[in-house]
Amino acid sequence: MARYPLSPWIAHRGGGCLAPENTLEGFRLAARLGFQAVEFDVMLTRDQVPILIHDETLERTTDGRGGVAERDWDELADLDAGRWLHRSWSGARIPRLTDVLALCTDLGLGVNVEIKPAAGHDEATGRLVAEGVAAAWPATLPLVVSSFSEAALAAARDAVPEQPRALLVEAIPGDFGARLARLDCAFLHARAVDLTVTATQELAAAGVPLAAYTVNSPEVAARCFALGVVALFTDRLDCLGP
Ligand code: G3P
Ligand code: MG
Repeated sequence: MARYPLSPWIAHRGGGCLAPENTLEGFRLAARLGFQAVEFDVMLTRDQVPILIHDETLERTTDGRGGVAERDWDELADLDAGRWLHRSWSGARIPRLTDVLALCTDLGLGVNVEIKPAAGHDEATGRLVAEGVAAAWPATLPLVVSSFSEAALAAARDAVPEQPRALLVEAIPGDFGARLARLDCAFLHARAVDLTVTATQELAAAGVPLAAYTVNSPEVAARCFALGVVALFTDRLDCLGP
């Protein structure tokens, strides 16, 4: 079985629910709380800059409006990406992938870079994120690149074949073996609440390490670890984790 490179607790979207998601403030907080790995979402701006944001639109997590893929980076750089959570986070900005990789390198954090393409931008996002990570990430720190988008993962595979990759799914699909082989993914990331004994046993028999999202209670965490899950994504940095 391939060894899963990230530690068993992964801070979801940086600071989970304790800090604005996908911001430098969140990564600093995760490191301060003892997390050794973080997950974040990467999308392209119109001018092809990989930035950290979860939604295809700006409204939920910034004071901007409209589609991320319809704006250039210089239109997004000064948006407030913290105030939506609480006014005390005002001034947090949307970071670029390069900003976050530099910070996580300084903090010694392992990273799960989730490729999150806006609709219709799967291939470009997969390729540019893989290339951006390859150019900036030190070989000494743990890394997994993942996506729900198989087109994005295929583009990432073609761009940087040797990068460790995970296919992201909700329930574990019956044809996981064929999909992982096609995308040259060593790992599967699946939704914790959908895990079944049968599917996790099949995965273990096939030698595929499994990580599960998003686990915010000790009971679900215990069930996942009992099923053989090797790492959990959590928002609850206040009560779960290392
Ligand atoms: O990568 C695990 C998890 O982040 C996937 O779901 O929607 O939070 O990006 P989402
Ligand atoms: Mg994510």
